[in-house]
Amino acid sequence: MIVLGIESTAHTFGVSVIDNRKVLSNIIDAYKTKSGGIIPYKASLHHVRVCKTVINKALDKAGADFSDIGLVSFSQSPGIGNCLKIGAAAARSISIVHDIPIIGVNHCIAHLEIANMLTDCKDPVLLYASGANTQIIAYEGGKYRIFGETLDNGIGNMLDSFARFIGLGFPGGPKIEKLAKKSNNYIEIPYVVKGMDVSFGGILTNLKNKVSSKKYKVEDLAFSLQETVFAMLMEVSERAMAHCNKNELVLGGGVACNKRLQQMAKIMCKERDAKCYIPENQFLVDNAAMIAWLGLIKYKAGNRMKLSETYIKPYVRTDDVLVNWR
Ligand code: ATP
Ligand code: FE2
Repeated sequence: MIVLGIESTAHTFGVSVIDNRKVLSNIIDAYKTKSGGIIPYKASLHHVRVCKTVINKALDKAGADFSDIGLVSFSQSPGIGNCLKIGAAAARSISIVHDIPIIGVNHCIAHLEIANMLTDCKDPVLLYASGANTQIIAYEGGKYRIFGETLDNGIGNMLDSFARFIGLGFPGGPKIEKLAKKSNNYIEIPYVVKGMDVSFGGILTNLKNKVSSKKYKVEDLAFSLQETVFAMLMEVSERAMAHCNKNELVLGGGVACNKRLQQMAKIMCKERDAKCYIPENQFLVDNAAMIAWLGLIKYKAGNRMKLSETYIKPYVRTDDVLVNWR
């Protein structure tokens, strides 16, 4: 079955065409700012502006047209309301005009399920580290449950804030990664794990104070920041794996593009004889292939959605989602 997926939870507008497990196209166009974070209505204007082009590009690259599409899938939850609305409206329009079934899916669960599409992985723990989200998710007791998460900022937003503070611009994550490579000098900063949760607000304040004191080199701070926050993520991921008795870890989210984080994840998995799955970057960042795939497996499990059920759900939590496709 050929599925067209649409992603629009935040700054990325993406469209992908998949044929079962095969990705025929996966196009993204992301709203960018010169400084500062996402302004929701501006991001939604971006999505309106690029929507038709991205859909056509994805169809062209896949060598498909609407008559080939058997299902339209879109990210229905969670995310920024203004942005979610544009993807949902585009999906509804396609569904109505071309008489194609439509299905809405949860974005966070899509980050986990894509590993099943790309690899032989069966029942993983997901470390989902993106701009807005930092969660450890696994399927347990009939639901996808959040075993640990940030108590304040998402890790990517924290890296971006620190990068902005030292004048590196957006997105900050890759720039901090580059800067950190210049150092091997660890400076003590707070390590904040509370039970299974993590927190980044205090770390950011501590780092800003260190920069203002002018006593430290920024590359040493970038290095120490990465070592500390990635170790925190490893600690809670490993504990979730042990608690759930699972031996697969999947990485997801833009921050998972970071090579040092990937290296730590591989070491941790090796040490506990577990497998570490790291999708290529285009499937780590927000993308529509994962939306198409989750739509497909939900549809195959018998789920159907009326147009009246395709309203967006910006605040849904992962463990609120009814799972009937496994
Ligand atoms: P979501 O809506 O799922 O929260 P998002 O809108 O934040 O996702 P993503 O593309 O998943 O989008 O992640 C973007 C984040 O990833 C940014 O904060 C960016 O700085 C960070 N990032 C990207 N590459 C790297 C890297 N190499 N190292 C660290 N962080 C990175
Ligand atoms: Fe995401």
